[in-house]
Amino acid sequence: MAEHPKDLLSLADWPRASVEGLLARAAELKRLRGSDRHPRPLAGRSVLLYFAKPSLRTLVTFQVGVAELGGHPVLLPPGQVRIGEREPLEDVARNLERWVHAVVARVYGHDMIETLAAHARVPVINALSDLLHPCQALADALTVAENADLKHARLTYLGDGNNMAHSLLNLAGCLGLRLVVCTPPDYAPDPGLAERAAERASESGGEIRLESDPRAAVERADFVYTDVWASMGQEDEAAARAEVFRPYQINAELLAAAPASVRLLHCLPAHRGEEITHEVFESDASLVFDQAENRLHAQKAVLELLATPD
Ligand code: CP
Ligand code: NVA
Repeated sequence: MAEHPKDLLSLADWPRASVEGLLARAAELKRLRGSDRHPRPLAGRSVLLYFAKPSLRTLVTFQVGVAELGGHPVLLPPGQVRIGEREPLEDVARNLERWVHAVVARVYGHDMIETLAAHARVPVINALSDLLHPCQALADALTVAENADLKHARLTYLGDGNNMAHSLLNLAGCLGLRLVVCTPPDYAPDPGLAERAAERASESGGEIRLESDPRAAVERADFVYTDVWASMGQEDEAAARAEVFRPYQINAELLAAAPASVRLLHCLPAHRGEEITHEVFESDASLVFDQAENRLHAQKAVLELLATPD
């Protein structure tokens, strides 16, 4: 496998071959789950889980994933360590590296996870920051690959130009995918990140397009993806955002403009009646719980690659 960074902070830093290797291994671990051929490469190793924001999927799948790989998950509640208040982050990092073999962290500012990774010699895995959510994007790639030819599938993301949009852009850049990101003009993804992703995608046969018209965005889509309109930490903007984002809701009327075979993706949690209607969420086209399951398999591949000895 090509050389990859010590950490998984952003898929923008990862070589294509390493990400392809992770996806292949995730599919293999999915097949092996529950069999006596399933590996336990984390035996005798501990992985620290630090979550400064709420979580269902990420927290449970990392705990289960570490345990299934034979390791020991250690949950550190943020109120216990009070980073920056009781002790600087740099010192926390230099303590943790002495005890555990990897750190999984969900944070607000992305700079926090970068500082953690810079000061801990052990791998740091981004379990979501305000800027990025790479583990979710890996699980999404696995889900698309289970239902279509990943390299040729047309994926449309609708909604906020947030951490999820950014990680799908990085994924598409890394693997050379076809991606349309459709947002209200004032909620577009980070322009520099989108530009770098588009350049990288085009180098390997992919294509990234930014769009603001939802109908044009879904016209040729094989997969339509959405996320909440107000992310964690933006709760007080929810009412204002609901007005702006209304035309970007995934509903039957919008999907009438998409191919009949279109499938639906959502990282969850979903707010039915906001970014997606109840009817569409519950339809046969929805793959959202496969995505949630695939978090486990994708993250196990990441842990196996990063948290085990060479
Ligand atoms: N999709 C996702 O990351 O879910 P949680 O916030 O519940 O972990
Ligand atoms: N954009 C959402 C993703 C949740 C998994 C958030 O950051 O809250």
